[in-house]
Amino acid sequence: MIYLDYAATTPLDARVLDALLPYFSGDFGNPSSTHRYGQRAEAAVETARETLAAILHCRPAELIFTSCGSESDNLALRGTALARRAQTGANRIVTSRSEHHAISRTATALEKDHGFQLDWLESDATGQISAASVEKVLSQDTALVSVMYSNNEIGTINPLREISGLCRKRGIPLHTDAVQAAAYLPINVDDLGVDLLSLGAHKFYGPKGIGALYIRQGTPIQPTQTGGGQEFGLRAGTHNVPLIVGLAEALRLADAEREARCAHLRPLRDRIIGTVLEEIPEARLTGHPALRVPNHASFVFKNLDGNLLVNLLDSAGFACSSGSACKTGNPEPSEVLTSLGLERDWALGSLRVTLGTGTTPGQVESFLSALPGLVEKARALTSLPGRGA
Ligand SMILES: Cc1ncc(COP(=O)(O)O)c(C=O)c1O
Repeated sequence: MIYLDYAATTPLDARVLDALLPYFSGDFGNPSSTHRYGQRAEAAVETARETLAAILHCRPAELIFTSCGSESDNLALRGTALARRAQTGANRIVTSRSEHHAISRTATALEKDHGFQLDWLESDATGQISAASVEKVLSQDTALVSVMYSNNEIGTINPLREISGLCRKRGIPLHTDAVQAAAYLPINVDDLGVDLLSLGAHKFYGPKGIGALYIRQGTPIQPTQTGGGQEFGLRAGTHNVPLIVGLAEALRLADAEREARCAHLRPLRDRIIGTVLEEIPEARLTGHPALRVPNHASFVFKNLDGNLLVNLLDSAGFACSSGSACKTGNPEPSEVLTSLGLERDWALGSLRVTLGTGTTPGQVESFLSALPGLVEKARALTSLPGRGA
């Protein structure tokens, strides 16, 4: 089986496993305890925080640990929208439908449950959110802007620096979901100019079930999970010490090896994109042709059921996805693809191929020799009566 779905999740790096294992057994203390077991656990959490802070170029006290990227997104959106409204009365949230559901559905929940008004940004045909489109909707009433760093379904990178310049001038907090980007793109929060940034460890060879949120000092935010005073009172709950240690080690490795990982992936990704567009009829690249993360190739094929293609690929020994992992089994085209302006007969036939440190040129060649025949087979099956894209 060849794994080509690294945007869904990555395997745990063996070095990360080595770093975190002792905190499940010998060093099992609760960081909130006063005795030496607690002190050792607390030291591990604070060292992890310092590691992250050095990479993000922020203060350790501007980082909190959460249980996943989704939780970081929820806290950023809910916590800041509610706190800003309480402070200033601002009642509008600016975001886009091409965000991960952790953002877009949280925004709609804030509309429904708390009466916020939403400004949905339009992306262009490559899936990019331009600074001009953000500028158009900003107002005194904007509580928060959330624009993802890179898109999980189509790989497009957004111009965060331009967007943050606009938000800064108006004193509006900007959040970015960097869950997919952190493995490949620089995450210096001062260069990016963002006020909040979400991370999730399992996208960069860390463990599942652990994330982090950067919150620039002075950004209004209130907790969404109350209880004990952990994480500066912003996230109650006993720390998951082993996974926090694992998150920090995984990010340290991603940062140290970023250039080498990108240099390994870029030519493999370009080989896939070039060959698919050249050899498969009625195939289109989705997302930006150049401004995309280096491990990400995504396509639509006309008149084909993307889920069926993914199943055929699985039977042939290749693990890919159709849109994001969450979309599998959903017969509706993804909102990300329809927001690119793709018609239904194209948008239903999506395929996402995402590479990682374990991907070899040989694996890419096997995939490329199998794909054209499987696309043809999927098209034939899709056009049978009772099916249809
Ligand atoms: C862009 C983006 N944001 C958020 C998430 C959610 O992260 P987690 O799985 O850690 O909750 C994902 C996961 O696919 C993602 O791709």
